Amino acid sequence: MAKFDRIPKIILDTDPGGDDIFALFWLQSLVKQGLAELIAVTTAGGNVSVEKTFSSASRILSLGGLPNVEVGRGVAVGHSRDDAAHIHGSDGMGNLSSQLPNPIHSYEATRYSEDILIERLNQMPGEITVIAIAPLTNLAAAEKKSPGILKKAKEIIIMGGAFTCPGNVTPHAEFNLWFDSEAAEIVLESRCDLVITSLDITRQLIFTREMAQSIAQTNPESELAQFLLKLCEFMIGTALEYRETNGVSGFLVHDAATLGYLFYPETLLWKRAKVQIETRGEWTRGQTLIDDRNLAKQPANTWIATAIDDARFFTNLTEDLKWLIKFEKT
Ligand code: BDR
Ligand code: CA
Repeated sequence: MAKFDRIPKIILDTDPGGDDIFALFWLQSLVKQGLAELIAVTTAGGNVSVEKTFSSASRILSLGGLPNVEVGRGVAVGHSRDDAAHIHGSDGMGNLSSQLPNPIHSYEATRYSEDILIERLNQMPGEITVIAIAPLTNLAAAEKKSPGILKKAKEIIIMGGAFTCPGNVTPHAEFNLWFDSEAAEIVLESRCDLVITSLDITRQLIFTREMAQSIAQTNPESELAQFLLKLCEFMIGTALEYRETNGVSGFLVHDAATLGYLFYPETLLWKRAKVQIETRGEWTRGQTLIDDRNLAKQPANTWIATAIDDARFFTNLTEDLKWLIKFEKT
């Protein structure tokens, strides 16, 4: 576990998505354990539409016991790119939304995600960690509207990219950075210390049915436990169908790697790199490239994760989720 001078203040930028939901539950556990403060959840389009990701974030915050956290709404990207509903369900939550209460946040009344980012980063310069587990549309919009704003974050941690392995949406590109590669380019140019957990390590993070069952046993009757089990089953089904796990029965919790880094940094290894993104290629759009030739001439802009101790990662994730479920509704 990381030692912080002060508990981290976090804005989570997300496009739920099954793996986003696991990350958001993990974060809620850490908040309830007094290890993090959740300033806001800013939603973006990506896995499904902006309306659906907003509703999911609201529902998951209620289920996890933090209904009062502000949820921002995203703006649809100005081009039509295929979403990932075939992986995450048409609602982005394993087609389980109808089994949960309606969202308590109002999509019409809420603020835009980019405006929340700008306001909060200005209010607390150098204090907020932005965890971005969606296409980078909101971060780029904030930077365009208020140049330099992203430098006011304490740290920006991104799930995205594929460096030494194939992509998951095209042979070359990872979904988040492919979906809005123009936004990714803006964010990559915004500062020199971005933290990136890419497919290179997240392809290893196969969450299994046995893990879900062991978490649920902590409090089998709980609504949260039942939801996690069902979501896990749905995600395993699509992961097998779309060969995401090489036939292993489980699904990839890509987005949770960002929290693994922030709260359990001893589980990852890193390298400095200059990362750029292809925004125009007919076959390669969204490809992330590392130029290692001469960092003195072309300074690095990122830390990229090169290895993860998956056994320790999953121990941390499952123990924290057990904690959330054990103390549900207290
Ligand atoms: C990323 O793409 C999305 O489908 C997931 O939620 C994750 O953020 C993995 O490539
Ligand atoms: Ca995501």
